[in-house]
Amino acid sequence: MIIATTIAQVRAQVAAWKKEGLTVGLVPTMGYLHEGHASLVDEAVRQCDRVVASDFVNPTQFGPNEDLEAYPRDFDRDCALLEEHGCAMVFHPAVEEMYAPGAATYVEILSDMPKQLCGKTRPIHFRGVCTVVSKLFNIVTPDKAFFGQKDAQQLAIIRQMVRDLSYGIEIVGCPIVREADGLAKSSRNTYLSEAERQAALVLSESVFLGQKMVAEGETDANKIVAAMTEHIQAQPLAKIDYVSAVDGVTMDPVDQIAGTVLVAMAVYIGKTRLIDNFIVEGK
Ligand code: PAJ
Repeated sequence: MIIATTIAQVRAQVAAWKKEGLTVGLVPTMGYLHEGHASLVDEAVRQCDRVVASDFVNPTQFGPNEDLEAYPRDFDRDCALLEEHGCAMVFHPAVEEMYAPGAATYVEILSDMPKQLCGKTRPIHFRGVCTVVSKLFNIVTPDKAFFGQKDAQQLAIIRQMVRDLSYGIEIVGCPIVREADGLAKSSRNTYLSEAERQAALVLSESVFLGQKMVAEGETDANKIVAAMTEHIQAQPLAKIDYVSAVDGVTMDPVDQIAGTVLVAMAVYIGKTRLIDNFIVEGK
């Protein structure tokens, strides 16, 4: 596997592959990789001739009081995982390589979409995500890019950005990978103490509760959200940021399960903010 740290290196390698007529898939990550990330690489390997993963903790998507410094990092372990899963190149730039001094251009969606859900408490987050993903698209020029449904709002926002900016890139959404007991895999799970790790199960439990209500025919989104909220509130270590049902494309709140609906949550377990969600294809 090629380890690239400069934009020029990535461009030269991708140009050589394209000259051979090979297709290129991109898997953007912030590193500290787990099986959720690996599932994206696996899907990319299935669909593309060469897979590039980026491994970059992007400072512009962290707010001033968020965990940028503390965010876990282990590049050697990441490389081993990526190589094992058939990744052809990892792009691991320094912050100054991605953001040259004086960089002042951002990509931002100006509708309400990035202000909903996670945007309420993380106002600059999606501007940072769109900016770095847009740069990665320009650097790697992939045929397809792979994102997890775990970050459902991020996936919806990237789809909108790709439409709005006419990127000729297919966005592939991949299912949430969970631990055996249900907890969605996340690099942030490493922050949890043993008691918090146990308490964190309220997220996936409430997802399964909501899915069961839908399967049993409940179409009132507010009732589903209320039942999920009640389940999470019963856990003393959990503090709800939001539990919401929104339109799966626009992220606007909905009252009924009709069309594509995203039921999403962010919950603090101690100091750690975790997210989970499910999608319903209503009638
Ligand atoms: P990161 O949190 O490292 O996630 C990278 C990709 O892995 C995202 O598309 C995310 O949805 C996916 N992912 C994480 N956990 C997953 C799980 N349990 N199951 C399936 N997919 C999972 O998301 C980011 O990084 C950044 O915002 C990024 C897009 C790289 C821009 O900096």
